[in-house]
Amino acid sequence: MSLSQYVEQQQAIVDAALDRMVPLETHSPQTIHKAMRYSLFAGGKRIRPILCMEACRTITDNSAGVEIAGGTLELIHTYSLIHDDLPALDNDDLRRGLPTNHKVFGDAMAILAGDSLLTLAFEVLSKLPGASGEVRANLVAELASASGTVEGMIAGQVRDIEGERMPPTAERLHAIHRAKTGALLRASVRMGAIYGGANQQQLAALTQYGEHIGLAFQIVDDVLDVEQPSEKLGKTAGKDVAQQKITFPAVYGLERSKEMAEEELSNAHGALEMFADRAARLHDLANLIVRRNA
Ligand code: IPE
Ligand code: IPE
Ligand code: MG
Ligand code: MG
Ligand code: MG
Repeated sequence: MSLSQYVEQQQAIVDAALDRMVPLETHSPQTIHKAMRYSLFAGGKRIRPILCMEACRTITDNSAGVEIAGGTLELIHTYSLIHDDLPALDNDDLRRGLPTNHKVFGDAMAILAGDSLLTLAFEVLSKLPGASGEVRANLVAELASASGTVEGMIAGQVRDIEGERMPPTAERLHAIHRAKTGALLRASVRMGAIYGGANQQQLAALTQYGEHIGLAFQIVDDVLDVEQPSEKLGKTAGKDVAQQKITFPAVYGLERSKEMAEEELSNAHGALEMFADRAARLHDLANLIVRRNA
């Protein structure tokens, strides 16, 4: 199966799992379920759930149900995007090729839609079929800390917003990126490994992989913000310069940023050595993250 066929197939598995997780639009109160589903099914790449599923398959042949754990990462990610786009944060009106959540449903409902996706993620994990109580608790802890204020996604978002008024230093840049994007990507891989029953050595190797692709992912996001048009990105291009964000191109320039993404890619490949052929798709996904154009 080609990589693009594989990715489409995995996206369909994730979408079906998400569809079962989120209450139907007809469920009262309808507005919130419409708002949650609007952003969730607007067409994201589903890279976090796919990484989770593939990390699990690297560990075990018995990965049944891992798409549900993976789906919770997409719930958190989509919540973070809805809030990232709010007027008080990045103030964006385009996301996943559609008007942003608050443009369609208003600020109040967009805030609540984000809150609901966040809450739902933990409800789903707490009831995860096919996982022991211990695994469920470990997954909850992993996702919560990756989303939180101590080196998690919120920590990164705070530094990103506060950074708009600060000189772009390498130290600030790394602190922002490690947390705002790196933490959730690292957790994606770790949650798959935990679900699959990885031992300490396997978990450590996959964690390394997750950290390298996490950084690479945001370097590329920053580069694409400069180089690609909005139509291609499905979100407003050129926002980072306009909002004086601390980004890789701002600190290192475009060419060096691209080289650094390639360095992270090569380190990510290196981290997978012990898994040999079992990690073939994780190698592919790392390449895809760095060489994507949207
Ligand atoms: C965009 O994430 C926001 C970042 C964390 C850089 P993605 O590029 O994964 O967005 P979708 O999910 O495909 O829309
Ligand atoms: C957002 O980073 C990271 C999140 C935690 C949502 P960006 O602000 O760079 O994401 P885009 O470029 O709007 O997707
Ligand atoms: Mg932002
Ligand atoms: Mg943004
Ligand atoms: Mg960006």
